[in-house]
Amino acid sequence: MLFDKLTHALGDALRPKPRYITVTPVTERPAAPVLPPPEALPAHVAIIMDGNGRWATSRGLPRSAGHAAGTEALREIIRASDDWGIEALSLYAFSTENWSRSKEEVAALMGLLLKYFSSEIDELDEKGVKITILGDVDGMPEPQRTALLKAMERTGNNTGLKLNIALNYGGRAELTRAARLLAEEVKAGTIEPEDIDEDEFAAKLYTAGLPDVDLLIRTSGEMRTSNFLPWQLAYAEMVFDDCYWPDFDRAHYMKCLGVYAGRDRRFGGVKGQTPSNAKEEADP
Ligand code: FPP
Repeated sequence: MLFDKLTHALGDALRPKPRYITVTPVTERPAAPVLPPPEALPAHVAIIMDGNGRWATSRGLPRSAGHAAGTEALREIIRASDDWGIEALSLYAFSTENWSRSKEEVAALMGLLLKYFSSEIDELDEKGVKITILGDVDGMPEPQRTALLKAMERTGNNTGLKLNIALNYGGRAELTRAARLLAEEVKAGTIEPEDIDEDEFAAKLYTAGLPDVDLLIRTSGEMRTSNFLPWQLAYAEMVFDDCYWPDFDRAHYMKCLGVYAGRDRRFGGVKGQTPSNAKEEADP
């Protein structure tokens, strides 16, 4: 009896388990993302391109390989933004804190930057892309500084996609710089302290003349803004994607734009109310 039970149990354990393959009917598969209509797209998208290092490490590659793969993703997202009629795209490429990375990694990033500007500038210019560098260009190494200034000069009058690349950028440093520029004007007597309002302040930022950021995307699952565009992000919608930046493609981008299009933006007010109809409701 016991022997029977044992052989039965053993047989059960050794018998191959049935394998179920779940086939999702086509109608139930998640739909491919669709680009929202132009009126639902953000005017200004900012992206924190995070996760290059982890992408590389998870493949047993050096971090520099992650940055090289990240440059490919960046190229495609710039093209997509241009194709889809996004007005402004701001990319966080190198912060003032990034200088503290290893000499090899900083050198790899600086090398990629030079390579990118020499290989892409013709296409970007032909497409009418206007390049602006956000950050302290004078603090960049000489060959990069020259390439960046040239790119800004060459594309300065273009009227297509406004492509802003943050390099040697820090948000607090940008705000401090704006305060200093205004203080200098007050000292010179060209402006009165009481004339300083939000518009005057915004005009001293690297992003002067650009609309505020509507949508901030950050990849790699991190949920913070890391000193990127603190003034300009005041009312931005934020969308966080878990993928590492080198894996971020048009489909991911479209999905983020779809999430943005579904958000209810109120800018501190109430949906459907303008200041005048709010008053009418309160005081019929
Ligand atoms: C953050 O990932 C990414 C950066 C600090 C650099 C971003 C640069 C590029 C995408 C390419 C170079 C730019 C141009 C304009 C050619 P991380 O290295 O912090 O990733 P981790 O958090 O996984 O370590």
